[in-house]
Amino acid sequence: MGTDHHKGGVGGIMRGPEQRPAVEARRLSFAFGKRAVLRDLAISVQPGTVFGMLGANGSGKTTLVRLFAGLLKPDSGDVRILGNAPGPGLSDRIGYMPQFNALYGSLTVRENVDFFARMYGVGDRLARAAAIDSALELVDLADRGRDRITSLSGGMVQRVSLAIALVHAPPVLLLDEPTVGLDPELRATFWGHFGRMTAEGTTILISSHTMDDAAHCDRLGFLRDGRFIAEGTPDELRATTGAASASLEDAFLYLVRTGASS
Ligand SMILES: Nc1ncnc2c1ncn2[C@@H]1O[C@H](COP(=O)(O)OP(=O)(O)OP(=O)(O)O)[C@@H](O)[C@H]1O
Ligand SMILES: [Mg+2]
Repeated sequence: MGTDHHKGGVGGIMRGPEQRPAVEARRLSFAFGKRAVLRDLAISVQPGTVFGMLGANGSGKTTLVRLFAGLLKPDSGDVRILGNAPGPGLSDRIGYMPQFNALYGSLTVRENVDFFARMYGVGDRLARAAAIDSALELVDLADRGRDRITSLSGGMVQRVSLAIALVHAPPVLLLDEPTVGLDPELRATFWGHFGRMTAEGTTILISSHTMDDAAHCDRLGFLRDGRFIAEGTPDELRATTGAASASLEDAFLYLVRTGASS
């Protein structure tokens, strides 16, 4: 997943290193009522890379993801996905996995994925069936398609949400803590999939609290006080602590406690 070299863009088109960011925000501010959550934030994610957002509870990760998904509107500033303002017209190009699942408990696994596949415009019945099969296989739930959501384990529910984000093969994935509750083997499998997707040009914005996830990202941004106070590759973030042997966890705690900028 290393991106020192540039990769094929969306659709396999090779572009120069100065290509347009797939996910971008400039001077973005957003408040819930009087509570300012994002302040003059900037982020830029190159196509075919994984950008990981780290930050304390309440630092605004979910809010930022929802702004990119078009579920919230910025108070000021600019938000772009593939060069466009998020909105209904872009939903077929974005795969969004919310932090808290939005599944229909009384429907089966397959019915849930089918519902969202239709909503994202996978119209053809045969194509949809094939897309659902491969999404369920990817999350290792091919044999649970007929089970109701309410009969699944927590990690399985999480995997159905991911299958839904992936079912229409969107070029941009917005994943809000997708690995919470996954066992280590499955988390490794997921990162294998994410690596293959980015190699094919998919861009991933992901939030997480685990250093295991963070280590897999091409770039990381540390969110605090409404903006990214540190940003870089995992190695660069480790170096912000000034300690040669610092782990990502050390860097995270250092940034939480000091708010130091890189
Ligand atoms: N619907 C809402 N109405 C009002 N305030 C909200 C709403 N959603 C979030 N907030 C507030 O916005 C701030 C940012 O919350 P957000 O959910 O974006 O944080 P987060 O970084 O995703 O946290 P976590 O790591 O716990 O998921 C918090 O202060 C939260 O209380
Ligand atoms: Mg959140």
